[in-house]
Amino acid sequence: MIYFDQAASSFPKPPEVAEAMYKAVIQNPANPGRGSHRLAREAAGIIFQAREKAAQLFGMTDPKKAVFFHNATAALNQAVKGFNWQEGEHIIATNFEHNSIRRPLVYLEKKYKIDVTYIDWHEQDNKIIDQVEQAIKGNTRLIAMTHASNVTGAVFPLKKIMEIAKQHGITTLVDGSQTVGHMDIHMKDDQIDMLVFPGHKALLGPQGTGMLLVEGDIPLIPIYHGGTGGYSKLIDQPEQWPERMESGTLNLPGIAGLLAAMEAFEKGKGRNVPRETFLINKLLKGLETVPGVQIYGPDQNPNRLPIAAFNILHANSQEIAAILDSHYDIAVRAGLHCSPLTHETLNTANQGMVRASLSYYNTEEEVDIFLQAVREIAESYQEF
Ligand code: ALA
Repeated sequence: MIYFDQAASSFPKPPEVAEAMYKAVIQNPANPGRGSHRLAREAAGIIFQAREKAAQLFGMTDPKKAVFFHNATAALNQAVKGFNWQEGEHIIATNFEHNSIRRPLVYLEKKYKIDVTYIDWHEQDNKIIDQVEQAIKGNTRLIAMTHASNVTGAVFPLKKIMEIAKQHGITTLVDGSQTVGHMDIHMKDDQIDMLVFPGHKALLGPQGTGMLLVEGDIPLIPIYHGGTGGYSKLIDQPEQWPERMESGTLNLPGIAGLLAAMEAFEKGKGRNVPRETFLINKLLKGLETVPGVQIYGPDQNPNRLPIAAFNILHANSQEIAAILDSHYDIAVRAGLHCSPLTHETLNTANQGMVRASLSYYNTEEEVDIFLQAVREIAESYQEF
């Protein structure tokens, strides 16, 4: 099997991830932060190490503000809904949002009559920056945006947009679901207020893990309430972080796996050109030579994500994905990728797109086999 659906969930994982999860299950049944016996202390220690590792890797100040959720969507919901929104306030997002930001925004639009401006992606960064500058209003409170499209792999000029937000005193939320683990992100240097990422994509960690990292004093109101281990006498949610944001028992095996994934990621840092960028460039070059194939998204550039989105003539993208799966044992994702806004923007809402997404563990040989498969499928469609 060739697994080219890494943007949905990565496979394989570094062996250390599975080992750490196994160890947590086999050796430590305790509840982190809920008891003072040795196993509970050890469990709490793993959780805190994971907070510290995330803070160090992604350039944030206070590990207590590195908080865990069961996935990036839950973390994004907390970040987007966690303000005392006032009717008519304004948010800037992009036309490339995943439903995990878009649906919370639509919720705010309906509940608080929040006004949202969606900006477009462009090959030239300055055309994106201009749109952001023009979108800013006196009551713009939040820029909530994806760092890169999960469909086309197009990357937004984050640093510059964050700089503009800072100049205008606007809080920022970055959805790093596709970029964390692939691109360097440093919250302090890049002036990001809130960063969200899942464990299971480019970081090569386990599913069921997501983090929200908060830099500085963002007055977030928790959307979940409940047991926090400490501060039990309070009837209200405590003010202290991370307890303020984390109600209920944490996913110790998942977080242990995420910690191992972050440590493995740290060891692999310093590669000049990420291996997956080399592979995707090879794949895109190959696709360009196949008659009937239309590629979407940015031209090749060193920053693009290891994602290639394409269609074959007018064939339904799901049909192409089904052929790749059933005839060639190649896994890709087709359809709308939980981001209908992207497809409306690129006029592919009916056809969808076929998305091949790669990781560090894919090989050149797999790319060659994939290209041959696409060539054969495209030829067969030309015959109709
Ligand atoms: N958000 C994931 C994707 O893009 C699931 O496929």
